[in-house]
Amino acid sequence: MDSEIQQLVGHILEHPRFQQLRSFQHHGADNSVYDHSVAVAEAAYAIARRMRLSEDETASVVRAALLHDFFGYDWRGDRFRRYLHRYSGVQRLMRMHAFVHGHIAAGRAKALFGLSDAECEAIARHMFPLSAMPRTRIAWIVTLADKAVASREMAAAVGSYLSPSRRKAVTEL
Ligand SMILES: [Fe+2]
Ligand SMILES: [Fe+2]
Repeated sequence: MDSEIQQLVGHILEHPRFQQLRSFQHHGADNSVYDHSVAVAEAAYAIARRMRLSEDETASVVRAALLHDFFGYDWRGDRFRRYLHRYSGVQRLMRMHAFVHGHIAAGRAKALFGLSDAECEAIARHMFPLSAMPRTRIAWIVTLADKAVASREMAAAVGSYLSPSRRKAVTEL
């Protein structure tokens, strides 16, 4: 990791609540929410540098990117599934992970690390088009960095699922 990123968000990376993200699987068996969040922060930092943003704006981009998925629960686990099944129809749809986690992450980022309103808005809107449209440069960079990294991770997950050894194992079942 770039030492400047480390300098900007080292205290977040080391925090036990952020370290907890290592235990939540995200895009594939080999990817955790921690891995994904760090990768998005690195991608967003690279975009901010290429756009020659100010130091302050670059710091905001990195903070928001690192905490964009700081929702703090296992969205693939039984507990969240049980919670969702208490609802039906539109009520269930409105509570689905894709729609709610940006807002949850923004609230936790503000409460625990004191992120600014602009940074929290970037987090809350990173799921566009499933969320409201980003309105700032910070929010657009976080949204685009997330999409790029998630696509790469999903492609790797699908690739490993379809690898010859895995295919062989599945067909032998
Ligand atoms: Fe997300
Ligand atoms: Fe994400």
